Amino acid sequence: MNLRVFSSEKEAAEACAARLAEAVRLQPDLVLGLPTGRTPLNVYRELVALTRRGGLDLSRVVTFNLDEFLGLPPEDAGSFRAYMERHLFHHVNLAPERIHFLDGSAEDAEAECARYDAALAAAGGLDLLLLGIGPNGHIAFNEPGESLVASCHRARLSRETRLANAMLFGDDPSRVPMAALTLGVSSILQARRVVLLAFGASKAAAVTAMLHGPVTPHCPASFLQLHRDVEVWLDEPAARGVRHHRPR
Ligand code: PGA
Repeated sequence: MNLRVFSSEKEAAEACAARLAEAVRLQPDLVLGLPTGRTPLNVYRELVALTRRGGLDLSRVVTFNLDEFLGLPPEDAGSFRAYMERHLFHHVNLAPERIHFLDGSAEDAEAECARYDAALAAAGGLDLLLLGIGPNGHIAFNEPGESLVASCHRARLSRETRLANAMLFGDDPSRVPMAALTLGVSSILQARRVVLLAFGASKAAAVTAMLHGPVTPHCPASFLQLHRDVEVWLDEPAARGVRHHRPR
């Protein structure tokens, strides 16, 4: 994995937005995988700023978000769909029909997951995937455990993950849904390029396990060691446990 350590989160986010903008310039119909959470917020802010300056045209880009809370309709303020509308979709020129999202309120979760995997396959898979990592090493909502699931599936959320997402629910962890729908590790590993961002000391242990630990479902992100084109972009606190990295 190709590692870069930035002096600040802001610097990393700017570089990441510039990387995305360049990828879109080279391939205007790029299929882009998008995360939610705190980590990509500054990247989305930068993409909005680039759009306002006329430096970004997303009109032909196709997006697939990674996951969605189970039981929440897209209009629910706590849904990832609502997050994406607030932070990105509402402010850029993505074509609504090219935005793909899991519907957490679908009656039949299994059918919804099959629909999503089929839509991603029909789009040709992800060209570029922007990823975060959970403090427990999860990627999307593929949580640590005895095994991982390759395809899109319903996932039970760990206590830690529900706590980390409480900000979307008025800081009340009890309101965070118990489960979610998520792309599986297969779609993630089949993405042609991955840029994983991690910021802050709370991610240091997961980053170290991802880079230097064994490939194990106990740290789902460790499977990225098997991928040939992953960039890991960190700030100094997240890079604390990285071997051969000397803090500036
Ligand atoms: P965060 O979440 O960006 O809110 O830290 C990342 C993740 O859980 O993948």
